[in-house]
Amino acid sequence: MELTLADPLSATRQPSFRLSPHPHHHRIVHVSAERDALAQFLEDARPVDVQNLEYVPYMRFHLADLLIKRVGNAFARTLVDLVKNRDHGGFTIGLQGLSQDPADYVRFGTAVGHILGPSNHDSMSGTYYARFVVRHTDDSDSYLRQAYRLFTMHTDGTFVTEATDWLLMMKFAEQNAIGGESRFLHLDDWEERERFVNHKFATRPFLYKAPGSKNVSDRVERPVFFQSEFGLSLSFIDQFVQPANREEAAYLHDLSASMEASAGTKEVVLPAGDLVVLNNYFYLHGRAPFERNEALFRELMRQRGTFAQ
Ligand SMILES: [Fe+2]
Repeated sequence: MELTLADPLSATRQPSFRLSPHPHHHRIVHVSAERDALAQFLEDARPVDVQNLEYVPYMRFHLADLLIKRVGNAFARTLVDLVKNRDHGGFTIGLQGLSQDPADYVRFGTAVGHILGPSNHDSMSGTYYARFVVRHTDDSDSYLRQAYRLFTMHTDGTFVTEATDWLLMMKFAEQNAIGGESRFLHLDDWEERERFVNHKFATRPFLYKAPGSKNVSDRVERPVFFQSEFGLSLSFIDQFVQPANREEAAYLHDLSASMEASAGTKEVVLPAGDLVVLNNYFYLHGRAPFERNEALFRELMRQRGTFAQ
């Protein structure tokens, strides 16, 4: 089935890519770039080493240009439209088995992210992206790398002052992994949303503080609900929000529990070599627990950024 968007630019037939409904999520669109075009992009991009991308920000945009050169301007417009469009707000795309080289994954993820706009600095890694591994054992100070816990629904960028418009997650590798699906909730699919939007704490600024591993010492205040260019928007993460009293804590507790239990929260399987991009204003994301396995190994890359002006 072909999907069309409200934007007339992307409703026309495109030779170098195809859109199809995502098998696990009714809003997210799967983008398939033409295989030959992708292979040519990987060839074109291979001379750009990953350290060069880490050190020189304009090289990240150069990779976006290389991808657009092979897959087309309409492809680039469609990716931006999909993430900005309230009805969709996200897409998946993959390398179709053309490479298993992590450097190619970084280059491809960087190209896709920089079609949207510049990436944010990731304080955890010290550069513009972070690769992180989930294993059987973990001694970290947040849910990010803890395999057997539900990683609760949240938005990114809550405890930093800069904007986080979009987030990109790419699966690099997965072995002996059962469970651990990504979980996504679009704000408009949350049945109990109005109960929390109409609450006196909905627009009260809450204090956010990050744990040590995030390397961020900011103290940021944000309301849970706010209006953005995308309409009703949300900012929330249970681990870092600091309620000031029992009443605030009860509101946050019930909000989180409601999102977890919502029928709108869908589990999405991401194959290795595929990535997902979400609009961080009106999507929450999380992760289901993995089943116990001592040989469990999963590696993801994340990138976060803003829309190009
Ligand atoms: Fe996150």
